[in-house]
Amino acid sequence: MAIKKVVILGAGVLGSQIAFQSAYKGMDVKVWNRHVDKAQQRLAALQPAYQADMGLAKADFEKILGQIEITSDLKEAVAGADLAIEAISENLEIKASFYHDLMAVVEPQTIIASNSSTFMPSQLVQYVGEPARFLHLHFANRIWKYNVAEISGTKATAPETIAAVTDFATAIGMVPIKMKKEYPGYVLNGMLVPFLAAGMTLWATGVADPKDIDRDWTISTGSPMGPFQILDMVGLRTAYQITMNNYEQTHSEVSKTVADKLKAMIDEGRIGVESGKGFYEYK
Ligand SMILES: NC(=O)c1ccc[n+]([C@@H]2O[C@H](COP(=O)([O-])OP(=O)(O)OC[C@H]3O[C@@H](n4cnc5c(N)ncnc54)[C@H](O)[C@@H]3O)[C@@H](O)[C@H]2O)c1
Repeated sequence: MAIKKVVILGAGVLGSQIAFQSAYKGMDVKVWNRHVDKAQQRLAALQPAYQADMGLAKADFEKILGQIEITSDLKEAVAGADLAIEAISENLEIKASFYHDLMAVVEPQTIIASNSSTFMPSQLVQYVGEPARFLHLHFANRIWKYNVAEISGTKATAPETIAAVTDFATAIGMVPIKMKKEYPGYVLNGMLVPFLAAGMTLWATGVADPKDIDRDWTISTGSPMGPFQILDMVGLRTAYQITMNNYEQTHSEVSKTVADKLKAMIDEGRIGVESGKGFYEYK
């Protein structure tokens, strides 16, 4: 089945990007959001980025934007959809209640995909109740530029569902990354989170300074960035949250030491690139 009609459920940071990118690549797009005006604002706010990064003229951006139908009526939003992509807040109660409402109105042919970053498909499928046509399609923030889409189903996801969503991802300009089984953090964060944690352990336990750790990594591997340059981009608040989550699960003393050092930097306003200083200083 070739996906042509897509509905994006939730127009926050990621939902608005998925909606615009899909319309930009010629899909027939509807957006469902609790507040239509907020969705409109989020979508319109993407204009400078599409101009700067994709060379899309303002008039062309507005024409595409005008083709996206935005509604707060869930039944109307999902009517006739080949694919529904859920991009609402990363909270299990909110998602569970939303899927309850969605399943009451969604049609049998519609494939349902979640963009969840931290839940796994096997956790959300219970709320969907349609395992054959459910999977995760995980985008990265600024999808037009960081154009990777991780595709992960459960054992019960139909091969046709995976195939149709893989083709859809390619059609909207993504590089599809097909996962053979689910994994926390998908592929990218499955590697990046432990890598950053290893770098922070070397720093927080006094083995070496961040700049030396980065120098060793970049020179020795030829990679453009070391863990602390990446951490400044990700933001220290996110790094702190992930480290604390790990500490709560493992009670590891090293995680606590890392978390305390990150917290001290955050309290000093060293949050990363967004505040102009983190492990490095930015102009
Ligand atoms: N922000 C990122 O970098 C990023 C990257 C990849 C995936 N994701 C995932 O995308 C999803 C959305 O994240 P986001 O960053 O766009 O969040 P966001 O906070 O920007 O947007 C959340 C959306 O959920 C809606 N919402 C909130 N409560 C709701 C409720 N009770 N019922 C219905 N809708 C509700 C909001 O109206 C909004 O449209 C999450 O699952 C997240 O893990 C986020």
